[in-house]
Amino acid sequence: MRTILPLLAAALLPAQAFAACPASPPEGAAASNPAALEQGRRAFLKCRACHTLPEGGKNLVGPNLWNLFARAPLGAADFKYSPAFTAAAPAWTAAKLDSFLEKPSKHIPGTRMVFAGIPAPEERQALIAWLAKETGCK
Ligand code: HEC
Repeated sequence: MRTILPLLAAALLPAQAFAACPASPPEGAAASNPAALEQGRRAFLKCRACHTLPEGGKNLVGPNLWNLFARAPLGAADFKYSPAFTAAAPAWTAAKLDSFLEKPSKHIPGTRMVFAGIPAPEERQALIAWLAKETGCK
């Protein structure tokens, strides 16, 4: 047992680190590409009136997004989600977020996130890569 435990820990730790991040987009070109990250940072200007990203950041009109890809659904502390959002209880993956950000009201009808959406796929991908980086994904 004594020899097995450290081995188990070694095997599990990388898996946990991986589970904390989206399985797609932020992998790939966008995440390591400074130009895409810069595009993502600029895209977030559309979001920042309503969202903070850092750990412990305030909820504004929308929830703080720290740890978005790893936290439990509806996981922003002290944020009152809408009934529609509560029913959907989205567990965010990059693919789900991509679909949500294209048109929030279509992905989760009745959401209180009043935002038309981002039609350009590459802008969404860049934004998702930026979000992953800024919300604690390594
Ligand atoms: C006008 C304010 C507003 C803007 C602008 C806005 N959001 Fe939101 N967002 C909200 C609200 C409110 C919610 C909670 C929705 C609900 O409860 O129905 C939300 C929810 C979310 C969630 C789900 C969080 C969770 O805990 O599951 C994500 C992710 C998100 N927004 C990302 C974005 C991104 C990225 C942008 C910019 C492209 C953006 N939002 C723009 C208000 C906004």
